[in-house]
Amino acid sequence: MCGIVGYVGSRKALPILINGLKRLEYRGYDSAGLALLQDDGLLISKSVGKIKHLEDALGDRSNSQASHGIAHTRWATHGEPNYVNAHPHTDNNCEIALVHNGIIENYRTLREYLVRQGYIIKTDTDTEILAHLIHFSYQGDLVEAVRGALTQVEGAYGIAVVSSLHPDLIVAARKGSPLVIGQGVDENFVASDVSAMLEHTNRVVYLDDDEIAAVTPNTFEITHIDRTRRDPQVEEISWTLDMIEKEGFDHFMLKEIHEQPTTIRNAIRGRLNFEEGIARLNGLNLQYDELRTISRIIITACGTSWHSALIGKYLIEEIARVPVEVEYASEFRYRSPIVDSQTVLFAISQSGETADTLAAMREAKKHGATVLGIVNAVGSTIARESHGGVYIHAGPEIGVASTKAFTSQVMVLTLIANLLGRMRNWSVAQGREMIEAVEAIPAQIESILANEDAIKAIADAYHQATNFLYLGRGINFPVALEGALKLKEISYIHAEGYPAAEMKHGPIALIDENMPVVVIALKDPVYDKVMSNIAEVRARNGRVIAIATEGDTEIADRVNEVIYIPHTHRLLTPCLAVIPLQLLSYHIAVMRDCSVDQPRNLAKSVTVE
Ligand code: F6R
Repeated sequence: MCGIVGYVGSRKALPILINGLKRLEYRGYDSAGLALLQDDGLLISKSVGKIKHLEDALGDRSNSQASHGIAHTRWATHGEPNYVNAHPHTDNNCEIALVHNGIIENYRTLREYLVRQGYIIKTDTDTEILAHLIHFSYQGDLVEAVRGALTQVEGAYGIAVVSSLHPDLIVAARKGSPLVIGQGVDENFVASDVSAMLEHTNRVVYLDDDEIAAVTPNTFEITHIDRTRRDPQVEEISWTLDMIEKEGFDHFMLKEIHEQPTTIRNAIRGRLNFEEGIARLNGLNLQYDELRTISRIIITACGTSWHSALIGKYLIEEIARVPVEVEYASEFRYRSPIVDSQTVLFAISQSGETADTLAAMREAKKHGATVLGIVNAVGSTIARESHGGVYIHAGPEIGVASTKAFTSQVMVLTLIANLLGRMRNWSVAQGREMIEAVEAIPAQIESILANEDAIKAIADAYHQATNFLYLGRGINFPVALEGALKLKEISYIHAEGYPAAEMKHGPIALIDENMPVVVIALKDPVYDKVMSNIAEVRARNGRVIAIATEGDTEIADRVNEVIYIPHTHRLLTPCLAVIPLQLLSYHIAVMRDCSVDQPRNLAKSVTVE
């Protein structure tokens, strides 16, 4: 979603801001803008569309010597994506400029109030109101003016504010929308995401909700909105620049698909005890006694992370025999869920900032649940607000369509299920069998990736289809959902995922020679049933692309295309079965000339409801 970057120091701010915005492009946006503090006042430039347009719009002004400024990529919520609505927004005297992520919920009331005070409102946005409100509260101290304005605001915000009356100062504030300060030498940064500043510093301070930071080239002072001060702890993040670059791949999504052997190794490193057949997950902050007595688990998430939650349910219920409910975070938070101090809730999120997941987690906490995060982004809000949890260590995921985060989430859920199972009914031998199979997964993913050309050829044969059906059973039903989601997100082909046996209760009506059906048909206890489902599709001239287990020679004659994956432990198949589906979606999208890394209308981190 929207992105913020700010710089205050002694270097030229413009290239730093533009590069920072480019690093944030992956989050999804429709317009961009910046404000630079020049000797003669604020220079504001905006454009609709890509950052390149913003650079073009700057023209002669691109050699600005300003060493202080803020910039923004906007993903429209209030008001269409056009020049006027793009950020920054200013007060009527053009002395204060502001960029904002989030939504000001009471902006209509504030707008009416400000109009009565004589302010002229120029845009359809909720953000402009804030610029006027800060001006209205201003009495010589910008930090106090921001504080005064924010006390009147309901909603979510991450903001960065500059003023021509205060050279060398950025005021940043957050509530519900992430913001991080980067510490440099004689320079400091503000951003909504560390990747915007990673080439300059890895020393960061995350702002908490209701905090305001006054950032100058050599200092940053953080106060709560109620004026109490916090001594900021600077953290060093381990992400490196190459992690956020394409490194020779055509797209981030392809790079991330190919990173999965490494990211799975990172997710399991130091966490496997072969002798005891048990996973070590100290971050859960739960003693063995507590793990033994968990009687009910809820897993909440959105999108792809929700699909991994569904797989987590299969794993935990089968291995540990603990009942698990999986719920969309957006539904959970509004339906008065039954949660108490005996409930353990896992919140799964790649970004750690998804608004619905965060709200669901807070709701559960309010009712006394133990809340654990399964998160990728270190230091993100969900990670920090959880009682404990497990980082998936997938590294930055830049492609909007999630790939490597999914497999790492599934792997971490596998380890959690193993741990709970070994605390209860699973024997050492059962545990060992799984742990050994886990260790083999990265090399098995490598062997699937080596078959990419064959998958690309299948993509070539089917990329003009207008509908796809994905079928799977048991633990691979959520993989069918994930395969369908990947395809529709990046290629805009309509695709549905279904439990294979449910097909005959409705979707079978859609099947004809134009309908490719992707079926996960692995050698497992439901193999014969899935083969019957395949026969039903073929009898209606449907074209079947099967994901099958290596060595299954009989399937080739019964489907149109087959992609083999190596044999593994029955409960570990999702991590392998999803890889060809990711590659299939990717190549279909490329062949259809789609914007793979930044699909239309999508945002990487959904920080609004
Ligand atoms: C799909 C995708 C989204 C996210 C969802 C949750 O490819 O990326 O469906 O999975 O928006 O995001 P996180 O995991 O960051 O909470």
